[in-house]
Amino acid sequence: MKITLPGLIDVHTHMRTPGQSHKEDFYTGTTAALNGGFTTIIDMPNNTVPITTKKLLREKMDIAKKQTVVDIGFHFGSLGNNLEEFKKVQEKIFGLKLYLNQTTGGFIIGKKELTKIYEAWEGTQPILLHAEEDVLDMVSEIVKKTKKKTHICHVSSKLELTKIAKAKERGLPVTCGITPHHLFLTNNQEKKLGVYAKMKPYLKSKKDVDFIWENLGYIDLIESDHAPHTIEEKETEAPFGVPGLDTTLPLLLTEVENGKLTVDEVIQLCHTNPSIIFNVPTSKKTFVEVSMEEYLLTKRDLKTKVGWSPFEGRRVIGKVKSVVIRDKKVFENGKVLIKPGEGRVIYPKRD
Ligand code: DOR
Ligand code: ZN
Repeated sequence: MKITLPGLIDVHTHMRTPGQSHKEDFYTGTTAALNGGFTTIIDMPNNTVPITTKKLLREKMDIAKKQTVVDIGFHFGSLGNNLEEFKKVQEKIFGLKLYLNQTTGGFIIGKKELTKIYEAWEGTQPILLHAEEDVLDMVSEIVKKTKKKTHICHVSSKLELTKIAKAKERGLPVTCGITPHHLFLTNNQEKKLGVYAKMKPYLKSKKDVDFIWENLGYIDLIESDHAPHTIEEKETEAPFGVPGLDTTLPLLLTEVENGKLTVDEVIQLCHTNPSIIFNVPTSKKTFVEVSMEEYLLTKRDLKTKVGWSPFEGRRVIGKVKSVVIRDKKVFENGKVLIKPGEGRVIYPKRD
């Protein structure tokens, strides 16, 4: 059986270029996107030199323009010392990403900077936060005061989802996303997967994961947090992060087959809501054909440069057969049919 889906949108990816192109570049990363049914991705700013000026954003966009095979947009970064750059980039970027906990790149800020940034941000696009556990209390306080649209990335625990649900019920302009690894892995699997299960936020207990599945109604979207690191890096420095673009859709469609999700919910979480929340342009002429066949996920199913996944060895259902972007077939049977750079750098829709 085959199904047709609208082009999926992943608002949380790390393409690693410029700076760490040995982990991923815009061609390999966007090829992994097509292989996973994503026709639009948004890239995060935690490059080795964080993307915190208009000039750095421009340079990154120029590289992406030459390499991408999908629609690609960008989030901007801040450590609290680039407030004058906000106005210059606010129409060009999909969100402002801030880190309130330690993770790859180490671009962490505290309450003082966070408050300053929230007050200075006048863009209409959301502020995205890496904010784990009790840090969310400080976030609620600031969002309540400033009323700025806020997206909480990668919810991972019962505590976090409970705090976000409360904020939503109080009418705060808050949305949230979940990653496939926080939906499909628990800290029980850390023993077997070792460093390949090391990411931020850390994997949580089965109880946490069950709670999230039972309360999926509070989750607005699925974000892969595609965060490639090479096998060698994982084995030596053990950095945080796992790749996800290739594997997100088959993992979700397997749960459709198991009756835990519907195809409509997958579309809502991976297309409609990301498009609404981040003003991502879409086209009715962009779609993905998926064969609902069952197979064992192996390295051969991956296009990411790093060539590994924490989900290798799983039986999954759903293989992307072809992808059409604006009426043009761009991917078929594992092969990209267009040249690097024939994708587009995109900007948020204006109302
Ligand atoms: O596991 C993670 N990896 N979490 C993050 O927040 C960052 C990401 C990365 O860039 O490697
Ligand atoms: Zn991330």
